[in-house]
Amino acid sequence: MLNVALPKGRLGEKVYSMFEKAGFECPSIKEQNRKLIFENEEAGVRYFWVKPSDVAIYVERGAADIGVAGKDILLEYKPDVYELLDLDIGKCRMAVAAKKDFHDDPQRKLKVATKFSNIAGEYYSSIDRDIDIIHLNGSIEIAPILGLSDVIVDIVETGKTLKENDLEVFETIVPISARLISNKSAFKFKTESIEKVVREIQLQLSNKEV
Ligand code: PRP
Repeated sequence: MLNVALPKGRLGEKVYSMFEKAGFECPSIKEQNRKLIFENEEAGVRYFWVKPSDVAIYVERGAADIGVAGKDILLEYKPDVYELLDLDIGKCRMAVAAKKDFHDDPQRKLKVATKFSNIAGEYYSSIDRDIDIIHLNGSIEIAPILGLSDVIVDIVETGKTLKENDLEVFETIVPISARLISNKSAFKFKTESIEKVVREIQLQLSNKEV
């Protein structure tokens, strides 16, 4: 039985349809209910719907064999897992944004509000800039508006949230997309089925390109 952690939400539905096409179908998952675990014994697969930011925890600790997590989470928490495939969905970028009239004063510590403290810390240390990190859990865009921070480090997808709050991107730190990840020992013991998932999804991705 292959245990798969799927990120709850629209991205997870796209991921499930990739798995379905790869031969790991589980029709009961489409029933409208609040169940979180679905199994198809015949296809040898069990799916769990988990919070997107928790997928890597399930996989790292072996509660799931494989799963799909955003590159943002992998960079921020560095879970001890294998990153097997870039799924080319859930695409966005990690960026520095601020109010349009913001000018950086290098003499002062830069106040950075973010949910991604490690990514922000590593980025600013790579450019040798002294910062003061303000860790927030959401609605990061408010911080520079209220003067809590000078800039934010956050995910930008369509750019709509920034625009509607009169902020703009100053720097892109790294592009983000969804990645297929595997627990390290599951990869050793369930190699055949995990490799089948990788092979079949790779095929779907290359067909998408032509
Ligand atoms: C993310 C991110 C931005 C927004 C970007 O927020 O933190 O706020 O999406 O998307 P856009 O560029 O398409 O507008 P999320 O919905 O995860 O909520 P939260 O950060 O406030 O928890």
